[in-house]
Amino acid sequence: MSDQNQSIHAVVQGRYGAIARGENASCCGGDGGESCSAPLYEASMLEGLPIDVTGLSLGCGDPVTIADLREGETVLDLGSGGGIDCFLAAKRVGASGYVIGVDMTADMLAKANANKAKLGVTNVEFRGGQIEALPVDEGSIDVIMSNCVINLSPNKPAVFREAFRVLKRGGRLAISDIVTEGDFSPELRAQMDKWADCVTGAIDVTDYVGMMQAAGFTDIQVVDKTDASEIVSVQAGMPRVFSARITARKP
Ligand SMILES: C[S@@+](CC[C@H](N)C(=O)[O-])C[C@H]1O[C@@H](n2cnc3c(N)ncnc32)[C@H](O)[C@@H]1O
Repeated sequence: MSDQNQSIHAVVQGRYGAIARGENASCCGGDGGESCSAPLYEASMLEGLPIDVTGLSLGCGDPVTIADLREGETVLDLGSGGGIDCFLAAKRVGASGYVIGVDMTADMLAKANANKAKLGVTNVEFRGGQIEALPVDEGSIDVIMSNCVINLSPNKPAVFREAFRVLKRGGRLAISDIVTEGDFSPELRAQMDKWADCVTGAIDVTDYVGMMQAAGFTDIQVVDKTDASEIVSVQAGMPRVFSARITARKP
């Protein structure tokens, strides 16, 4: 990995490690705490989940609903954070299904595992690792979800190549992410605090789709583009920044 990519990972790990330890409430531009999760999911989906889970929701959408999960499926969550989407997915796939969350931040993994113990779920596993080099077997996953994470990666083509590798044939991708129309200037792109806030690492949606196509994905759809200014901190001089739901399939 290049030095630049390593330093971006370090900044991102620093930010999300601090959030996991409760030292930094800011998340993807939100206020932290409960307000991060409240608008993203139907209230009924969150019933029964403790505040330790809902209060550590740092996403920008609801990939679980668009994933249209079925009983018995094996699901992978890229950048699982405190585990909220994994726990929601686990309910949908049931005891015959299995959910794996991958995250590179040790303190976030510790939080996710503490939440798992608190909930007593047995069909969820959290693995340490990078989404650019997934610790997951080839062709083993039915559905990949991700919530506000791929924008943080300094090597998005590698993320999509890895996602393609680990999916079974016919497997599905369901992503909520921040994307743009237009590009950030090099000066804005270099603002690492904003990168960790899920802003300046985001790329033009056409380039994003192009990377997915290059990895081999088909049936790519970008839906529900919504203005991201309530989720992330957008400032003058930036391209249009929005939250989108992106779905695709491995042929
Ligand atoms: C914005 S939070 C989203 C967490 C979770 N998906 C949610 O909705 O609450 C981003 C998470 O992705 C993890 N992450 C960011 N870049 C990563 C990478 N390249 N590999 C693995 N994990 C990564 C961070 O450690 C953090 O836990």
